[in-house]
Amino acid sequence: MTRLKLTAATVSALALLMTAPVFAQEAATTEPAQTGTDAAPMAPADAAPVTPAPEAAASGSTIAGQAEGQMVLATELQAPEAITGADDTARSVALFQEMGKVITHPRCLNCHPVTGGPTQGDDMHPHSPPMVRGVADFGPDGLSCTTCHGAENVAYSVETGSIPGHSPWQLAPESMGWAGQSLANICTQMKDPERNGGRDLEAIWEHHANDGLVGWAWDPGQGRTPAPGSQELFGQLTRAWIETGAACPS
Ligand code: HEC
Ligand code: HEC
Repeated sequence: MTRLKLTAATVSALALLMTAPVFAQEAATTEPAQTGTDAAPMAPADAAPVTPAPEAAASGSTIAGQAEGQMVLATELQAPEAITGADDTARSVALFQEMGKVITHPRCLNCHPVTGGPTQGDDMHPHSPPMVRGVADFGPDGLSCTTCHGAENVAYSVETGSIPGHSPWQLAPESMGWAGQSLANICTQMKDPERNGGRDLEAIWEHHANDGLVGWAWDPGQGRTPAPGSQELFGQLTRAWIETGAACPS
């Protein structure tokens, strides 16, 4: 018998074996909004496919990152000096649109779903193994996010890819859901202290410029496309957006 090697498939299979009953229980109390994945966790462990059913992947097309026109990921980010506008407000909107290349990148959206659990990859397919939000945005009872996600990215030993990691690692609260939302809606949410964790604009800047989990998006581990530009540039764009009035696209 060969030694168990760490791969995405073994992690998923082990988790399904361990937790099929947990998911079944959770699925009854949590909205099954994330596509057809509610079917997979309830399947008996011995019959459970390791990957989501094809229809689950297909219905994922309602997720923002997969909407038409958004499949091409931004790979470059312009500096604030390069962003112009007829007046301050127009420039502010243009600055937020540039920030949007980061904000709507799958590295961010995979953790900022509106409904359902986290998603994975540049195509934002449902998390495998199937994962629910749980009451504390930290997964179902007995299978918190940090069961698998450590403090750092961990590369697979026998195939390309990695388990992403950072401390803390958890899902953004529902009020901060972005996937599928327009940039205008995301902007309004981000400025609303009722929905953004009580932050003023200065705290939003601080989060964008210095938060470690945001920074993970530029160092996402083997097999994952980093967000465009750098966190430093993203912080500079946010600063310029605030200085020009923090206007939102309409
Ligand atoms: C049973 C193990 C396990 C648990 C529990 C788990 N994950 Fe994951 N997660 C993984 C693995 C493995 C991957 C990497 C899949 C791949 O890309 O190969 C992953 C990938 C991800 C990604 C994809 C990153 C990207 O941009 O592609 C996100 C986001 C994520 N997990 C969030 C979460 C959150 C939030 C929780 C808790 C609610 C959670 N995960 C719980 C195993 C787990
Ligand atoms: C591993 C999951 C994860 C990833 C990846 C992630 N976030 Fe978050 N995000 C969170 C959590 C959890 C919170 C809530 C934490 C808090 O309020 O302090 C949050 C809150 C926020 C907030 C504050 C509230 C709001 O919505 O206005 C902003 C802004 C934000 N994230 C931006 C980003 C950006 C930009 C990226 C990508 C560059 C990103 N996040 C990637 C989990 C994540």
